[in-house]
Amino acid sequence: MDIEEEIRDYFATVEINLPDSMKLLMNLKDKFNILDSNAHAILESIKTDNVESEKKRAYLYSKIKEHLNSCQKCPLYAAESHTQKVAGEGALNSPLVLIGEGPGFDEDKMGRPFVGRAGQILTTILNKLEIRREKVYITNVIKCRPPQNRTPMQKEIRACSHNLELELSFITPKVIIALGAVPLNYFKSGSSIIRERGRWINSGEYWIMPTFHPAYILRQQGKALNRVKWAIWQDFNKAVEKAKEMCPEYKYS
Ligand code: URA
Repeated sequence: MDIEEEIRDYFATVEINLPDSMKLLMNLKDKFNILDSNAHAILESIKTDNVESEKKRAYLYSKIKEHLNSCQKCPLYAAESHTQKVAGEGALNSPLVLIGEGPGFDEDKMGRPFVGRAGQILTTILNKLEIRREKVYITNVIKCRPPQNRTPMQKEIRACSHNLELELSFITPKVIIALGAVPLNYFKSGSSIIRERGRWINSGEYWIMPTFHPAYILRQQGKALNRVKWAIWQDFNKAVEKAKEMCPEYKYS
């Protein structure tokens, strides 16, 4: 009997309305014979840098991907623009998470976030900050490429939110960098990226630093280009500094 069946049996019900993150946490407990039943303690135990925690993180990641791959909550999964879902990638124990808008052509082709031109810029910024890309977690608000790379619609963002929430519920980051207007509005709706970039948002759970999307750099020239680059550089520095302050033991290189 699997863990969900056991719970159904216990409560004599066919449907269990537990959040996905809780179901997954119970799967983890079951799989690794974890006796502790305090969710916070279990989440903390997967953060340490040892082989056992790494195995737990790999298991959770495979389950997060399974959850994502079965998603049919909005029509994008069947859109012609989309060939595969793009999960986040990186360290599931990182205090710092970077969130973009959604996969573009290259990401859809490779099944990985930020691997096209915007991704190259992102990787360069991280390297300049002496951060290895694999040591942070990089993901998107939506996981399926929209037609012609258009901005995701509100109903698509809402339908997809269970995927991002599941990722965040296990990573429990301290700091999030919101790359552009879409992730900014995910956390603070009705916001302008021009006005909000560089200003901290405290969601209660996370410190969020909104900044311009790296692809915005590609559309600038002359003085504007320098201004945008400088703004992004400052915002990344603030975010990294806070993440290091809040989790001094975590290694980014
Ligand atoms: N732009 C995004 O917002 N996300 C990606 O993964 C790539 C480009």
